[in-house]
Parts: sequence; C-alpha cells; structure tokens
Amino acid sequence: MSADSLFRLDGKVCVVTGSLGLLGREHLRALGGQGAKLVVTDRDHDACVAFARELEGMGLEALAHGADVTNKADVERLEQAILAKLGRIDVLVNNAALDEKVEAKAGPELLEASKFENLSVETFRRALDVNVTGVFLASQVLGRSMVARKRGSIVNVASTYGLVAPDQSLYRDKEGRQMFYKSAAYPTTKGAVVQLTRYLASYWGPLGIRVNALCPGGVSNGQNEDFVVRYSAKTPLGRLANREDYHGAVVYLASDASAYMTGAMLVVDGGFTAC
Ligand SMILES: NC(=O)c1ccc[n+]([C@@H]2O[C@H](COP(=O)([O-])OP(=O)(O)OC[C@H]3O[C@@H](n4cnc5c(N)ncnc54)[C@H](O)[C@@H]3O)[C@@H](O)[C@H]2O)c1
Repeated sequence: MSADSLFRLDGKVCVVTGSLGLLGREHLRALGGQGAKLVVTDRDHDACVAFARELEGMGLEALAHGADVTNKADVERLEQAILAKLGRIDVLVNNAALDEKVEAKAGPELLEASKFENLSVETFRRALDVNVTGVFLASQVLGRSMVARKRGSIVNVASTYGLVAPDQSLYRDKEGRQMFYKSAAYPTTKGAVVQLTRYLASYWGPLGIRVNALCPGGVSNGQNEDFVVRYSAKTPLGRLANREDYHGAVVYLASDASAYMTGAMLVVDGGFTAC
C-alpha cells in the first residue's frame, strides 16, 4: 500500500460527536476529504441536517442524526439510524464536550464563580457527565458493531489539559489582574478521557479495535488579545492552533496510517506541553 493510500478512508463510516462545534466541523471535513461516509451528530437534530447539507454541497456523503451523548437511549437510536442507513461503523470520534471558553465575558462574577473554592458541584458534575460519561456511552453503544466486526478506530478528543494543569497566569489581563480561573472541571474530565482511552485500548486491542486520544492545544477563536499574547509566548511555535491544524492528526488516527497505534496520546499543541 502506498503511503498516500494509507490515509484514505473510502467508504468508511465515520461518526463525529459534537459535530456542530468549532472542531467537530473540521474533523468531518478532514475525514470526508479522504472519502469517508460522514455521520453528523450533535444535540440539535435540525442543525445537524443543515450541516450535513452543507457537506453534501461540498461533494461529501453525510447522514445527520441528533443525539445527546449523555443519554443512552438517544445514542442507541443514533446507532440504529447509522446501521439502518449505512450498515456499519468504522470510526468514532468522541469529540463532544463542555468547556468554559476564554472568549466568554470576563467580569467580577465570573472570577468569583471560577475559583475552585466556589465552583458549583453542578458545573463539575455536568462536565463529568458530558466529557467522560458521554465518551463512555458513545464508545459502549457505537463500539458494539466494531466488536461484532472485530475492527474499528476510536479517537477520543482529550486536551493538553488532560496532560498538564492549566497555567492560571494565562487568564490575566495586561495589568496582571486575574480575569477568571480555568476551572478544575475541564482538566479533570480530560485526564479521565486519557485513562479511559488506555483502558479501552487494552480491553479491545485483542479484537483489533484501536483506541487513541488526540490532545489538541488551544484553538484561535476570537479570544482577547491578552490571552493570545500570553498563550503564544508560552508555546514554542508562537501561536494558537488554527482550526484546520488537526485535520492531519484526525485522519491519521482514523485511518490505517496508524494501524499499529493504540492506547496512545497524539499531542498536537505547538509544543505547549513540551516546556
Ligand atoms: N477549542 C479548543 O481550543 C480545544 C482545545 C483542546 C481540546 N479541545 C477539545 O476538542 C473538542 C471540540 O472542541 P470545540 O472547541 O469544537 O468545542 P465546541 O464547544 O465548539 O463544540 C462542542 C460540541 O459538542 C456538543 N455537545 C455538548 N454537549 C453535548 C451532548 N451532551 N451531546 C452531544 N453533543 C454535545 C455541542 O453542542 C458543540 O457543538 C472538545 O472535546 C474539546 O474539549 C478543544
């Protein structure tokens, strides 16, 4: 097989949870570009349909089906819809997650609420539910047809914050005032995703199902200038990621190009965690 054809996904059914977010749309465009049949899934069914039409307008094949990854019955309906229309599942990208965006309005209330001492248990539990239980449920339900066929690739989207703790000085303004604290919820969940990835890689490896994690760094998305300057200075490549910067990594993990890789973390972060 030539190196180029190793990355092809012709006819492979690829599901991306959280399809409608900043990166979910990019993962779909990247996988579709290699010939995959795409499954667009997020909470809002009608918005999934609209995005699937957009992908079809680009010459890609896309099925839309809304589902909440924290709801097992919903994920089972998603599985049934995929199997009825496309007959199989080859790749699952567990991408849906909740995160506090830096571009969210900062202010004294946010600063107080974001302190560890004040973080609400509801916020913490909700993050665990979507970011961890959602990965558990989607893998359990959508993984069973992979188990039956004894092949498949699962890509869990973790984060640099699954590997290192947030440097809270990134979230200060020019004068050095803390704008807010990155909460304990997100890094905790992403650390759990890394460990669930290892668990499933070990558990399903004998069946030929590969499970890896992609650990992206921060993506440029209209964040305030203070943050961009501080983040860039802390990153050897000197910038935030562009939203297209993960295309290669997602295709690599989904495809046979990574056939001998499982239980691994692919860190694509401009060097953020190297120093
Ligand atoms: N954007 C970044 O800077 C960055 C950096 C590192 C890692 N990541 C990770 O990449 C992934 C995508 O991030 P993003 O920036 O595109 O996030 P985003 O917030 O733009 O998109 C997340 C998507 O998940 C969906 N979602 C949330 N809860 C859901 C649920 N219960 N069921 C189904 N869908 C649900 C949302 O509707 C949204 O469309 C996440 O796992 C995130 O943690 C992002």
